Amino acid sequence: MSVQLAPSILSADFARLADEAAAVADVADWLHVDVMDNHFVPNLTLGAPVVAALHAATPLPLDCHLMIDDPDRWAVDFVEAGAANVTFHAEAARDVVETARSIRAAGARAGLALKPDTDLDDYFDVLPEFDMLLVMTVEPGFGGQHFMAAMMPKVARARRFLRDTGAALWIQVDGGVDADTIEQCAAAGADVFVAGSAVYNADDPAAAVVALRERAVAALAEPGVSR
Ligand code: DX5
Ligand code: ZN
Repeated sequence: MSVQLAPSILSADFARLADEAAAVADVADWLHVDVMDNHFVPNLTLGAPVVAALHAATPLPLDCHLMIDDPDRWAVDFVEAGAANVTFHAEAARDVVETARSIRAAGARAGLALKPDTDLDDYFDVLPEFDMLLVMTVEPGFGGQHFMAAMMPKVARARRFLRDTGAALWIQVDGGVDADTIEQCAAAGADVFVAGSAVYNADDPAAAVVALRERAVAALAEPGVSR
């Protein structure tokens, strides 16, 4: 299982997004783009036109995390804007299967995001419709929040489910992931790591990505961590 790093531009300088993307382009696997509508979460960021502009400005594949109401209606717009992955929240969608299928039919990977209080067991039967499960490790809405270690059993349970069923989803963690917390995420079974403030508040964002990857890879090499 490979480790993938997805720096979140939520903590970047929004006036210099192309430069901020370029700063991690050689070391990151994805650029994580947080879309917030001030309804599903109490914060407002950007929409499909900015995603299209970023797509034109960076070779990194865009990982759009939709924290919006009615993703059923809007998800495909983000694929058309150039997102290679579109993740939406289970709590916001009317029909998660239909929305996943619309994302995939439009040509992107589909992700299902769960807020901390949302029960994973309620979604086991729909996971085969998805390419990635996002286990939120903070309440969605803001960067720089405290990591919720209490989400690690949810990650581990998801990893066990995938192992038992042979499903090929990636497991992403998002929120409070930094040099102190990434190892426990990897040990629990995550393989895609979003980091906002740990990357863009660092003096050298690229070096921060490299260091995070090293820690995740090292955690996977620990005895007792099997995949
Ligand atoms: C929060 C966003 C995250 C955010 C993470 O709702 O989904 O992607 O950028 O920021 P950090 O890594 O600072 O917790
Ligand atoms: Zn996010």
